[in-house]
Amino acid sequence: MNADIFLIGAGQTRFGEWWDKSLRTLMDEAISAAITDAGVTALDIDFVVVANMLGEATCDQAHLGSMAASLLPHRPPALRTEAACASGAVALHAATALLESGRAETVLVVGVEKMTDVPNDLVAAALMGAADAERDAPSGLTFPGVFGLVATRYMHEYGLTREKLNIVSSRHHVNAVSNPNAQFRMAISPEAVGASPLVADPLRLLDCSPVSDGAAALILSTKKESDTRLAASAISTDAVSLTERQTITSFAASRTAAMQAFAEASIGPRDLSHVELHDCFSIAALVSVEDLGLADPGMGIHLYESEDHLTVNASGGLKACGHPVAATGVKQLIDIRKQLRQSKKQWGLAHNFGGAAATAGIHILENLHA
Ligand code: COA
Repeated sequence: MNADIFLIGAGQTRFGEWWDKSLRTLMDEAISAAITDAGVTALDIDFVVVANMLGEATCDQAHLGSMAASLLPHRPPALRTEAACASGAVALHAATALLESGRAETVLVVGVEKMTDVPNDLVAAALMGAADAERDAPSGLTFPGVFGLVATRYMHEYGLTREKLNIVSSRHHVNAVSNPNAQFRMAISPEAVGASPLVADPLRLLDCSPVSDGAAALILSTKKESDTRLAASAISTDAVSLTERQTITSFAASRTAAMQAFAEASIGPRDLSHVELHDCFSIAALVSVEDLGLADPGMGIHLYESEDHLTVNASGGLKACGHPVAATGVKQLIDIRKQLRQSKKQWGLAHNFGGAAATAGIHILENLHA
């Protein structure tokens, strides 16, 4: 990190179905809350970075950088990032680069998505834009199908049973009960996960993150200090097509980004107290805890079975909080800051990926009041 960057403000809408709110309204709510939380004025913002994947497909709306900037009285410069479900992490990385270079001193990052106004088959087709249109999509895959393949292979390699996999979504749903911003705030038993309708064998309805609307905003600054420092920001990429992967039970981009982020923050996995990771499907949570170095290959489920010193997706994760795709990577940092403040621990990590982790982003936060 070439500068001391502080997270000075955060705000979000509740994730869920917001038929009465447009992309603009959702952004406005999250941005206003972040500015109030930061104790700055809108005029202090030098640059706006907007994360969005599906504006054109679900709302006929592009050009979201300028739309977000025009919610501020002085209309600062703005850009939009798109990296599928990792759009939020990439927006944060771009903001970090602007701050490190000195081009900006205070940057607003807002992730926004509106997915529920169109039929689910249209959303599923639009989300497949995150896959390889030439090499993978013609087989008829959807993203539940992609992760169904990952789950099948993982079960074959490591002997994970359906009963064990049920534990993952159940845990995330139980965690979300106390999160007022979660889309689904009901506890679900492991048995209910296993009995839910089949979506893409072996994945069932309750293995899947839902389709959601929502926005999340953060303000990062080198000018104003706060109790929370951004200690690392790393992005890594991999082949978009699954046909070019050595394995689908581990994602190289997650592993590389994690390695770079730990090196940048000068810590290791054992230093972490809170992790928010990308559980777009239950199996993705197990692959991710292993890619982050929190468990050995094939052993991710043990982290969910044991009471560890570490919290994983204490917010409810994507499964229960909802997954308005480009807002997720921004919202994860809001939850990590909240968790660090509550526990008074020092280190927390957010892990966000796009597609089958063809882009992965890791951000590490340090609580300076730990
Ligand atoms: N978890 C829990 N409940 C869910 C849910 C989920 N993931 N998805 C839908 N529901 C609930 C709805 O609230 C609804 O409940 P209600 O009848 O009480 O209102 C019910 O299940 C049916 O909802 P519906 O929208 O008709 O479901 P669907 O079958 O059309 O869609 C999925 C379910 C799993 C296919 C859809 O949520 C999906 O595609 N998820 C994955 C999204 C994705 O790929 N994201 C990108 C990741 S890389």
